[in-house]
Amino acid sequence: MTTMPRGALPPLIFILILLTAGGCNKAKNDNQPIPVGPGPGGPDGPGGAPSNIKQVMSKIGGRGPQALNMAIGKELGQDAPPWDMLQPQTKQYAELAASLGNEQPRKGSAESWQNFTKSFTAAAEELKLAADAKDQAKAKEAHKKLMNSCNDCHKEHRGGPMRPGG
Ligand code: HEC
Repeated sequence: MTTMPRGALPPLIFILILLTAGGCNKAKNDNQPIPVGPGPGGPDGPGGAPSNIKQVMSKIGGRGPQALNMAIGKELGQDAPPWDMLQPQTKQYAELAASLGNEQPRKGSAESWQNFTKSFTAAAEELKLAADAKDQAKAKEAHKKLMNSCNDCHKEHRGGPMRPGG
């Protein structure tokens, strides 16, 4: 009565194989969190800064000499605009403008935001193309469009109850 019933062994082996295989997989498969970043933006951590809009705006419209909108305006006002400076600046401007479309304003409707960011991006793109073509008249025109759009968008989307101070 010491004989095992036939057929008991193969399943046992099968189970053993399953166990070892499973163990191996588990060891290799420590599931690390896949880093999901906002892309080429850089080191802005999640949930930190209140809005990227603000960062983009201060690059475009801040008061410093590197603020694009003012620098570009000045350069375009010269008799012989420094195109080698303007070309990278207008390119960056267009990229910043385009990035606004992915953001959400703290104030105002999403639909209106899309409208404003679309036309802002289109004008920035025009500016960039004009700078690439070294077309001063066209570049000035596009720059004027950009400047005229600041206030309209700000009226609709800037500030609000969550904004402390100016
Ligand atoms: C598509 C809408 C939109 C357009 C167009 C726009 N802005 Fe803004 N801007 C905003 C919003 C929204 C804020 C507020 C961001 C926040 O505080 O969260 C802002 C804030 C700013 C600020 C304050 C940034 C800071 O550090 O608090 C400046 C300066 C500024 N904009 C300049 C400009 C200039 C100059 C132009 C035109 C060349 C312009 N903006 C065009 C939406 C826009």
